[in-house]
Amino acid sequence: MAWSLLLAGLLAGTTSFANPLLSRQSSRGSDFLRFSCSQLVVERADPIVNPGQKFTPHMHQIVGGNSFNITMDPSTIDPPKTSKCTSCRMVEDFSNYWTASIYFQSPENGTYKRVPQFANGQLNGTVMDQTGGITVYYMRPFSGTNKKTTVFPRGFRMISGNPLNTKKAAGPLVNCHRCLSARDRVSGGAGAPCDRSDTAEFPNKPCPGGIRVTVIFPSCWDGKNLDSPDHQSHVAFAPGNQALAGDKCPSTHPVRIPQVMYEIMYDTSGAFANPEYYKNGKQPLVYSFGDKTGYGAHGDYLFGWEDGALQRAMDGLGTNCFSEVCTALKLQTPMAANECVKGQQSREEVGDGVWLKELPGGVPVY
Ligand SMILES: *[C@@H]1O[C@H](CO)[C@@H](O)[C@H](O)[C@H]1NC(C)=O
Ligand SMILES: *[C@@H]1O[C@H](CO)[C@@H](O)[C@H](O)[C@H]1NC(C)=O
Ligand SMILES: *[C@@H]1O[C@H](CO)[C@@H](O)[C@H](O)[C@H]1NC(C)=O
Repeated sequence: MAWSLLLAGLLAGTTSFANPLLSRQSSRGSDFLRFSCSQLVVERADPIVNPGQKFTPHMHQIVGGNSFNITMDPSTIDPPKTSKCTSCRMVEDFSNYWTASIYFQSPENGTYKRVPQFANGQLNGTVMDQTGGITVYYMRPFSGTNKKTTVFPRGFRMISGNPLNTKKAAGPLVNCHRCLSARDRVSGGAGAPCDRSDTAEFPNKPCPGGIRVTVIFPSCWDGKNLDSPDHQSHVAFAPGNQALAGDKCPSTHPVRIPQVMYEIMYDTSGAFANPEYYKNGKQPLVYSFGDKTGYGAHGDYLFGWEDGALQRAMDGLGTNCFSEVCTALKLQTPMAANECVKGQQSREEVGDGVWLKELPGGVPVY
């Protein structure tokens, strides 16, 4: 108990994840890599859950290497070799990172529009493509003296969260929503990710500063499988009531991998923040898979770093490597990252600035 409170204090007090200026000054903050990836494509594709399928059941927003494809069998695609560019600032990173899109359903007439994304953070260099993208973290243990992590092997992939969840998942919050006041729009809000300011549900009130969605992945791996039938059971969270306290791995999943985390910023300002829309327990947002609760929030991760690069960075944390500054890695400019985009393979209107009669794919809302 005391230990977890201490950790929560450390995370909240000295490692302000959302505020890069604060964390840059913090010695504790040297335990992670943090960088931006701009939007590669928004489309219904999912090479982990529905390989080979065009127009998969729901809409995703995808960042990373442009070898992203509807099929990404590790025996045929090697992202660093197949990609020509990456939308991430770290040029040796051709991984793909994706999450489900959020739609606003007009309470006036029932039509849908994709909630726009916006750039995260206030440091130059983290302010990227203003229309989308994901902020990616790779973290090593925050406590203890053994900070060693073993990076993912080629072909590794995993999912955090489950779109089928219709109630709050047991255990620590790992997929969460932070409702931002207008004042917190740029900083993204202070405090640890998925703490008491965050909810498993969609916020039940207007968020004029936007919504910050956090997706935390497990920090322990079975050491054998690149994937598993549910895309989750080859990895595990360390036991305890803190998703980020992942340095004591269970014997079933003994390998401490870097803990991956995403932050995605959704612009729910302006007309989306109309207080009328939040009366009588209602709220107007819905995930692309039809979920109005928010419990089904999830993220997908497909490893694709060049050989050795991520391990060099993780080993260099605390000395020559922190956040976006890491002498062990090459950076490209935000402009170059923004230029790496990909056309939809599953071509359709995604609802950007256009009202749709139904969610893409005709997904029913529940
Ligand atoms: C997707 O993969 C197929 C098979 O490897 C390849 O022929 C095709 O060019 C790829 N498409 C894109 C858009 O990368
Ligand atoms: C539906 O409602 C939204 C506002 O909620 C409005 O902007 C849009 O024009 C309306 N569409 C139609 C077809 O009336
Ligand atoms: C950020 O970039 C802007 C525009 O290029 C520049 O005016 C500003 O001084 C920069 N701020 C910092 C902290 O580097």
